[in-house]
Amino acid sequence: MVEFEEIINTRRSIREYADKEVNDDDILKIIKAGMQAPGSRLGAEPWEFVVIKNKETLAKLGEIKPRVTNAPAAIVLVANIERAFYKTVWQQDMGAAAENMLLEAVNLGLGGLWNGVAPEEERMTKIGKIIGIDDIAETKPYCIITIGYPAEGWENKFMDKFDEERIHYEKY
Ligand SMILES: Cc1cc2nc3c(=O)[nH]c(=O)nc-3n(C[C@H](O)[C@H](O)[C@H](O)COP(=O)(O)O)c2cc1C
Repeated sequence: MVEFEEIINTRRSIREYADKEVNDDDILKIIKAGMQAPGSRLGAEPWEFVVIKNKETLAKLGEIKPRVTNAPAAIVLVANIERAFYKTVWQQDMGAAAENMLLEAVNLGLGGLWNGVAPEEERMTKIGKIIGIDDIAETKPYCIITIGYPAEGWENKFMDKFDEERIHYEKY
């Protein structure tokens, strides 16, 4: 376990991974972290998760999102709008889950990458077809989180992103 502040400050987008499998317990922990995220309505969150470890499927997803190809595992975050109470804010719900998952990956000594899919409909449709979604009207591929042990030179590390100029007190 890593200290919370260290997790927040050292998380980086990890785009290349060591040739080492990620165990299923860790993948489950990452998904559980996603489900702990705030959602627009408690009990009516849209999130669902498709775990992909099959190399052929990873390669197919990689034709649309290249960084997926060489990842040992990927989780496609899917918004099921039928589950949602507030049906227009699914992208916010899913974003909260995605960030929780990336932080849990760091906590477990892993690295992750947010591979953007939504809102581009063509991309959502193509990703959907690969994972068994024929129609994205109600079941929307949101992003793909790749997970793995960082390759050499791709470790999570601190980068200072603080910018005081963006903080406003009392009025903009
Ligand atoms: C909505 C969203 C979509 C993203 N899509 C991609 C992507 O498709 N490919 C990629 O390499 N990185 C993607 N990223 C990661 C960003 O490029 C990355 O977070 C940013 O460069 C800052 O670097 P850091 O994550 O190391 O702080 C995405 C991030 C977000 C939040």
